[in-house]
Amino acid sequence: MSFQPTMIDYDETNRVFHLHNGLVSYALGVAPGGYLTHLYFGRAVRRYHGTGQEHHMSTSFSPLPAGQGADVFGLNDLPLEYPGSGFGDYRVPAHEVVQPDGTAIADLRYQSHRITAGKPALPGLPATYATDDSDAETLTVVLGDPVNGTEVALAYTIFRDRAVITRSVVVTNRDSRPKAIRKAASASLDFTAPGFELIHLSGSYAKERHLVRERLTQETRILDSKRGASSHYQNPTFALVAPGTTEHAGAAYGFGLVYSGNHECVIEQNDRQQVRVMAGINPAGFAWNLAPGASFQTPEVILTYTDQGLNGLSATWHRLINDRLIRGRYRHHDRPIVINNWEATYFDFDEAKILAIVAAAKRLGVEAFVLDDGWFGHRDDDRSSLGDWVTHAQKLPAGLAHLAQVIHQQGMQFGLWFEPEMISEDSELFAAHPDYRLAIPGRAGSAGRHQFTLDFSRADVRQAVLDQMCAVLDHTQVDFIKWDMNRNMSEVFSAALPAYAQGEVTHRYMLGLYDMLERLTTRYPEILFEGCSGGGGRFDLGMLAYTSQIWTSDDTDAVSRLKIQYGTSLFYPLSTISAHVSAVPNHQFQRVTSMALRGAVASSGVLGYELDATKLTESEQAAVREQIVFYQAHRRLLQYGRLTRLLSPFEGGDTAWQISDDRGLEAVVVYARPLAEEAPAVIRLRLFGLDANRDYAVLGQRVGGDELMGEGLLVPLPLSQDYAGVQVYLKAVTDDE
Ligand code: GLA
Repeated sequence: MSFQPTMIDYDETNRVFHLHNGLVSYALGVAPGGYLTHLYFGRAVRRYHGTGQEHHMSTSFSPLPAGQGADVFGLNDLPLEYPGSGFGDYRVPAHEVVQPDGTAIADLRYQSHRITAGKPALPGLPATYATDDSDAETLTVVLGDPVNGTEVALAYTIFRDRAVITRSVVVTNRDSRPKAIRKAASASLDFTAPGFELIHLSGSYAKERHLVRERLTQETRILDSKRGASSHYQNPTFALVAPGTTEHAGAAYGFGLVYSGNHECVIEQNDRQQVRVMAGINPAGFAWNLAPGASFQTPEVILTYTDQGLNGLSATWHRLINDRLIRGRYRHHDRPIVINNWEATYFDFDEAKILAIVAAAKRLGVEAFVLDDGWFGHRDDDRSSLGDWVTHAQKLPAGLAHLAQVIHQQGMQFGLWFEPEMISEDSELFAAHPDYRLAIPGRAGSAGRHQFTLDFSRADVRQAVLDQMCAVLDHTQVDFIKWDMNRNMSEVFSAALPAYAQGEVTHRYMLGLYDMLERLTTRYPEILFEGCSGGGGRFDLGMLAYTSQIWTSDDTDAVSRLKIQYGTSLFYPLSTISAHVSAVPNHQFQRVTSMALRGAVASSGVLGYELDATKLTESEQAAVREQIVFYQAHRRLLQYGRLTRLLSPFEGGDTAWQISDDRGLEAVVVYARPLAEEAPAVIRLRLFGLDANRDYAVLGQRVGGDELMGEGLLVPLPLSQDYAGVQVYLKAVTDDE
């Protein structure tokens, strides 16, 4: 029997496509002349009746495309799905392909379409996936410009039971002349509803993903990275919200690029308050050669809609990432509580020191030990040995396998730090292969943290690193890998590519990185991979397809972490947010925060420890033991529960959130107040999503869900103390209790 789509309709009379699933609708149409127009994206409608004619306008100072006959409209105001350029649309183009005659303009018109069951994989790139053919349907619309011979196939997938659309594009050279892609956005769409506000996650090293909200005006906003990584500075996710949208109510659109390299997100509001939204590989420095017959696959963009405010947006993203992006054994799987020795020892350790930390951590209930930077080559500081993945003989004379074995004998898992994409000048790899790094012949090369980036666009370079890693992993019992990346690219040039292909290097690098991660995660399916890049410098959807969690920031100060984790949680689920309790005074800020605050913040994600367990006082040890017992008892909730943000650290001092199970029968509430106030008021915190008809056991009392959501929870925060934090657990009582 042939496939009968249930979520994608095509109205042949009006030439309108409608993707719908009862949660969301996305409509696009073929306008006279073959222009593919954006019609609607938002709250689900049963049947899209409109034809988009009202959008057809003709504005002064913008030419009309040739040969339009009676249907007179200009491209500059036509809401489009994938704009070319050069024919009177002066907004940002999605597509630029340089032709042999030097032009880069394109007049993309509808050619054909097909609707298929399921969701095809993106060759070489991470993407969300459908579990089977009934889980999703895909519309592919082919556009083309016969004069210049380029074809663009736009793929749209709608998932069942999710307010999610994904988009990606394949560009194909359909004639006999070679071309070069200068820009190939993954998606573009033109909203006609006025008045959006933009929310994005920007920041810096140790200050990742701070939430910024601003009104759009007539302007072009670009959120991007040109660093060869998604970066600490601008995350490739953002939201457009109606004014007045809060955490709990209001329309919010979410956008996220599934890519870890250079990205460009464009939000352009024109004179008529139409908003063009676009995301894809950053065209800066990018040029991809397209031989006759060749195709180029863009990364995927995820688009979501909710009218339940920012918490509703997050719920959609968290569920999608947990269910349909993260793969392998750790999908929906409990994440262990680790202790990492970085802040405990930095480079200064030996086996005895490590085993002492392991023994002390074991007594506290910690489940895994992660050996950080410094275990290889002769790495005693950050100036050497990246590229030489052989055990540091002075620090670990009995060998790494032995260390792993002893740790396992103690009943703990063993994790290991690698920085596979990097090379130190002082290394055997560099001595043997100076051409393995990204560098421009004849130029000295700019070091970052005394290191250079390996040319991961090259298969031989990747193989050299992979072989070394496998030699370690095949002989050592490793349960966890922290995959770090501690500088951004410069002097991007590959010794293995000809001059005309140098514009391909950064993207080829990303394809190489994904290839390497694919091979490693396939070969070692039991290993849990944690992503890292100087903290959260590559916290993105691309990495999450391989590394099931990510070290959120090198800033482990609990007060700083309130903002970092709050911002990160807008898109990324708790199961991905690696968060450690560290020692005080804090190594980044010298702040002395309470153990209660540090515990509450680090437990709101994947809990771990970043300290020397042998140096804890008796009372600190007791507190850590208690944190771990609590975390283990509620791990599912804390890693996979539904997060509801209640008070934003970006709007005031106090921060609060609630993590509940799907049915609202239990929850952990976190409340933090960095600075005490004089004459403080009692704190009543209104909770969300509980069962109004049930009572909850909370703080030794029995309180109605209606009361907790109405009057609120009386928060037992120490009011006269700075850096106060509290974690409250509540659970619905059964009738016989
Ligand atoms: C980065 C990481 C840290 C640590 C160091 C080691 O900064 O984010 O957690 O691993 O590298 O050099």
